[in-house]
Amino acid sequence: MVIRIDYTNVMAETIGERDGILREELLSFRHFVIETHARIQKEKERKFYFAKLPYQDTQEIKEFAKEISERFDYFVLIGIGGSSLGAQMLFESLKSINHNIYDRPKFFIMDNVDPDKFSSILEIIDIEKTCFNVVSKSGSTVETIANFAIVLDILKKRLGERWNEHLVFTTDPEKGFLKRFGEENNIKILHVPPKVGGRFSVLSPVGIFPAAVLGIDIDQLLEGAKKMDLVCSIEEHVEHNPAYLIAITHYIANMRRGKTISVMMPYSEKLSSFVDWYRQLWAESLGKDGLGQTPVKALGTVDQHSQIQLYRDGLRDKIITFIQVERRAEDFKIPDEIPEDIHYLSGHTLHEILNKELLGTKAALIKSKVPNITISMDKISPYNIGMLIYLYEMATGFSGYLYKINPFDQPAVEEGKNFTYALMGREGYSQKLEEFEELYKE
Ligand code: PA5
Repeated sequence: MVIRIDYTNVMAETIGERDGILREELLSFRHFVIETHARIQKEKERKFYFAKLPYQDTQEIKEFAKEISERFDYFVLIGIGGSSLGAQMLFESLKSINHNIYDRPKFFIMDNVDPDKFSSILEIIDIEKTCFNVVSKSGSTVETIANFAIVLDILKKRLGERWNEHLVFTTDPEKGFLKRFGEENNIKILHVPPKVGGRFSVLSPVGIFPAAVLGIDIDQLLEGAKKMDLVCSIEEHVEHNPAYLIAITHYIANMRRGKTISVMMPYSEKLSSFVDWYRQLWAESLGKDGLGQTPVKALGTVDQHSQIQLYRDGLRDKIITFIQVERRAEDFKIPDEIPEDIHYLSGHTLHEILNKELLGTKAALIKSKVPNITISMDKISPYNIGMLIYLYEMATGFSGYLYKINPFDQPAVEEGKNFTYALMGREGYSQKLEEFEELYKE
């Protein structure tokens, strides 16, 4: 295994019965797991369609991505939520932190409708050399369409008849404004598989097309996801199926031990946006019917100096997942010739200190009986990130059965979107506007 899960520190044997999980409690899910496992295998053509994505043919997408990366120096993704967080995570974890300084195509995301962010991107890119990938499954999300509408105007003014050559749409193959507009204007369209929801779509063209444009090995990414699919498909034992293990330990911690917050804390700057992706997956999938855990982002070691006081000594409402990277592409040794007072550090490397800090933090948490899990990977690679993505998608899907909710819809998100459409005067939303006015009546 290139990814390992250590769950010793969520068990009662380590942190006591008030906060920890009893072995027999974990094993008592055996029958539930066997039944649910069978249901999931049957659901892979429908609700669990994300499980099919690792097996797609990538030839066409790779060829098109190569063409785009050769033609353009800037690649801007216009999209939000499930339509941008996956690509951002792949970019930040698998490309150099300095990619946009030294490499090309330079990559930017227009997600928010914040004029400051919008102008900061426009300031840097050269429109003549920019490809805009507009990603929206529904083809109608206000933020995406607003940003696109301004970009469209700029493209038409600057490029004349060639404006459509600078656009690629990623959207539903059957419906929506982007599909219609794209077809009418001869714009290249990539498809979001209709059965895959936004936050489960990173391994579809939503995530793998931008990744391929940026030179990420998407086949390795999918290979890793396939490997995790295999592990999760053949293994139905609670303790041997990593996705079910994550789901059940979090469920017990949440529902029986009051751990309403799930902190994810990678000891790696590059994995910081993996947590942003996870936050959406966990929150939007499981936050239903008055249930669900609040996912919180932290970064090791930075948040040791900010959050750990609270995690150790504050409300006992948290379960923490650490992500550890065992090997780095490069490491730096602290020299021998350093002042006597700090000499205890000489000969050690930054990577070593990072790992010791993690060990120290875990020891401190064990002392305070705070449940924590460690996921270790040998290195950050497309293969391992593919494994990690699939692991969390499956853990989330399985959690839906535990909480008895549908993890694949997002009615509360849609509600907010619909009020926004109403407020912006979209046709067909007059009743929603009345509802809005009613809510604000004194
Ligand atoms: O997971 C989801 O469904 C949402 O977060 C969506 O991805 C987000 O609202 C963007 O939607 P769309 O892709 O339709 O523009």
